[in-house]
Amino acid sequence: MKIIDLRSDTITLPTDEMRQAMFEAELGDDVHREDPTVNRLEELAAQMMGKEAALFTPSGTMSNLIAVLTHTRPGDEILVGSEAHMLWYEVGGASALGGVVIRTLPNDEAGRVDPDTVEQTIRPKEIHHPPTTLLCLENTHNRCGGAVLTREYTSAIAQLAHQHGLRVHLDGARIFNAAIALNVPASELAAPVDSVGFCLSKGLSAPVGSLLCGTQESVEEARKWRKMLGGGMRQAGVIAAAGIVALQKMVSRLAEDHANARRLADGLVRIPGFAVHLEKVQTNIVNFEFPSTTPDFKPQAQARGVKFLYRSERKIRAVTHRMLSAEDIDEALERLDRLVREAG
Ligand SMILES: Cc1ncc(COP(=O)(O)O)c(C=O)c1O
Repeated sequence: MKIIDLRSDTITLPTDEMRQAMFEAELGDDVHREDPTVNRLEELAAQMMGKEAALFTPSGTMSNLIAVLTHTRPGDEILVGSEAHMLWYEVGGASALGGVVIRTLPNDEAGRVDPDTVEQTIRPKEIHHPPTTLLCLENTHNRCGGAVLTREYTSAIAQLAHQHGLRVHLDGARIFNAAIALNVPASELAAPVDSVGFCLSKGLSAPVGSLLCGTQESVEEARKWRKMLGGGMRQAGVIAAAGIVALQKMVSRLAEDHANARRLADGLVRIPGFAVHLEKVQTNIVNFEFPSTTPDFKPQAQARGVKFLYRSERKIRAVTHRMLSAEDIDEALERLDRLVREAG
């Protein structure tokens, strides 16, 4: 029985072309900036994001943390959406290591924070207050079901933040999914923000790595923070080589993952008892609830070889990716349909 693993796009394995590129990669010591493959990856990433420079980091979590360290000082306050990955799944690093106060603003279901709320939350300069210095956004929005922030929204909210002297960081772990969904270059979605981080190791299928992009000056500072965190990697060209293939070859195929997410969502609503908001399925993530008539859905689905990530008792996240075909999605739906019918 094939295991149909819908837990995350992070489970994607490198392609044969990536492995070949890794084997052949020209290498050097990247802490001394002497790894030509890392240098090429950073140049390519900066160019694709429309930024002056980029820094290769081991993970999206480290990219986000370095962005906070670069844009703030200990004691500052940062504004983060209530459903943000940075808030939920990054171990509180911004507070623990960056010494900042994390102030949360409600995310709507489309992953946005409301501009008026942002404006009201920014602290006036006053002796009692920590200075509010950074606004963090997320595109696509993981906990909001892969929701896409448009360039118009990003631009308006970034402009507002800039007017108040804040910087703006975009957690664009899946920004290429947003770009494909909106049919715009990723650089347009990143243009309004001061820094953007994106991941190679999710839908793009590379084994490791993220890029933090911004101005030359901020990336130089970020490089120093990366070193302090122990993220200075030596012959990192071995993994950067896969990242170059990811950026050159794997972006446009994300459309297949989006089509498969849509196929999954459409199929789920046809099985009695599943609740899915079809209009919210914009990219490769489908949030849904399973039927109350199958309380042991979790072990049952697992026993039938369909894996999900569980957000809460009834809330489930499914993520489509390169290692699952349309046929696999149909097979998963058939197994779930059988599960529900046999339980009923
Ligand atoms: C929106 C978002 N940001 C950041 C990350 C962190 O990436 P990493 O797992 O590489 O640390 C993830 C990982 O799933 C994510 O979904």
